[in-house]
Amino acid sequence: MAHPEEYPQLPPGFRFGTSTAAYQVEGAAQEDGRGTSVWDTFTAEPGRVVDGSSGAVACDHYHRFAEDVALMKRLGTTGYRFSVAWPRIQPTGRGAVEQRGLDFYDRLVDELLAAGVQPMATLFHWDLPQALEDDGGWLNRDTVERFADYATIVGQCLGDRVEHWVPVNEPNVVTLMGYGIGMHAPGKTMMFEALPVAHHLLLAHGRAVVALREAGASSVGCANNHAPMWPASDDPADVGATKLFDAVWNALFLEPMLLGRYPVDLQPLLEAHVREGDLATIRQPLDFYGVNYYNPMKIGAAAEDAELPFEFRELVGYPVTDFGWPVVPDALREWLIMFRARFRAALPPIIITESGCSYGMGPDADGVVDDQPRIDYLRSHVQAVAEAVQRGVDVRGYYAWSLIDNFEWSEGYTQRFGLVHVDYETQARTPKRSFEWYADLIRAQTPGR
Ligand code: NOJ
Repeated sequence: MAHPEEYPQLPPGFRFGTSTAAYQVEGAAQEDGRGTSVWDTFTAEPGRVVDGSSGAVACDHYHRFAEDVALMKRLGTTGYRFSVAWPRIQPTGRGAVEQRGLDFYDRLVDELLAAGVQPMATLFHWDLPQALEDDGGWLNRDTVERFADYATIVGQCLGDRVEHWVPVNEPNVVTLMGYGIGMHAPGKTMMFEALPVAHHLLLAHGRAVVALREAGASSVGCANNHAPMWPASDDPADVGATKLFDAVWNALFLEPMLLGRYPVDLQPLLEAHVREGDLATIRQPLDFYGVNYYNPMKIGAAAEDAELPFEFRELVGYPVTDFGWPVVPDALREWLIMFRARFRAALPPIIITESGCSYGMGPDADGVVDDQPRIDYLRSHVQAVAEAVQRGVDVRGYYAWSLIDNFEWSEGYTQRFGLVHVDYETQARTPKRSFEWYADLIRAQTPGR
C-alpha cells in the first residue's frame, strides 16, 4: 500500500460511499409483482437506446445483492446509495402495496447494516410507474399526491434503519432529458413547455420530505445534478445564453429548495402553475444537500431558428472520459466554494451524492482491469473536495458513481462507470484497480486528524 500522505485527507467522520439506482442494476423486471415503469416502455421503443438494450436483466442485482454487499464490505466503505423502484412497491403507482417488493429492500437494508454499511435510499431515480405516465406523469399535479403516499409507505418500512433519504434524483435531468428534449423516458420533446414537470418534481420533493420525517426518517436531503456553466465566449449573446441555461439547470432547483423562490428569469414561465403555499412546501429544511457532479458545461447562443436559445459547445483543452465528458476537478472545487458563498446560512451540510466517470476497459489476460484514468479521476475529484473543505465548505461525504458497471440509460451498456467490472454474459463481478485504490483511500484516512 502506498504511503497515506499520497491520498487526499478528509476530516474524521467523512464518508466514502458508492451509489447505484434500481433500474440500472436490479434486473428482475418481471419478478415479485413489479409493475411496468416508463423506462421499460421507453427501452422497448426502437432507436431510444444506442445498443437496443434495457434494464430487464442489468446486473441481476435483485438476486445478487448479497454478493454486491460483500463487495462493499471488501471495499471498506461505510455508505451505499441505492434507489427504491416505485413499480415494485406500487405496481401502478397507486393503491395497495406489493409486499414482495418492499421485502426486497428490507433484506437489502439488513444486509447492508450487517456489513457495517449505512444505507442512503433514493425514492425516485427515474422509474415512474407507467400507469402514472399514462395519466400525464410529472405533467400531472396528481402525481405529487401519489408520490407522497409512496414516500410514506417506504418511510414506514425502512425509516428506522436508513441513515439518509433522497426523495428525487436529479429533477433537472428528468425535466430536461425526459420531457424537454426526449432523450430519456418518457421521451417527450416539449422544450420550455416541460417546466411544469420541474414544479411538480419540486413539490414531490417537499411533500416527500414531510412524509418521510413523519414516518420516522432522521436525515432527509436531495441529490441535485449541478454543473458550472461556462460561456463559450465573452460575446454578450453567449453570456446571456449561459445565464439562462444556468437558471434552467441549476437555479431552477436549488433556489426553490433552499430559498423558497424561483429564479427571476424563469418566474414568468412558472407563474401559471404555482399555487399558494407551493413554495413553502418545496422549501423544507434539509439535513443535507446532495450534489451529483460530473463536469462543467460550455454554453453558447444558438442559431436564430433553433428550438432552444442555448446550445452546448465542446470544452476543449481537457482530458475526456470514454463518454466524451471533460475531466475538470477544479470546477467541482470552485462550484462548492461559490455555492457556499452564495447560500451561506441557507445551506445545510453537503454530500457529494454522485461523482464518477465512464471508461470502458475490461479484464486483461490475467483478469486485471487496469483503469488508471478512473483512479486519476477519483483522486483529483476527492482532492478537489478536500480543498473545498479546507476553504470552509462543509462537505460530509463522497459517493462514487458507481459501485458496479450498469445500464447507462440511453447509452445502454456502452458506458461503464463501475469500480467493479460486470460481465453481462456471466454476471461475473471483477473489482477494477480503481476499486483497490478506493479501498486504500478509505484505509488511508487518518483517524482523529
Ligand atoms: C447521474 C444519474 O443519477 C445516474 O443515474 C447516471 O448513471 C449518472 N449520472 C451517469 O450518467
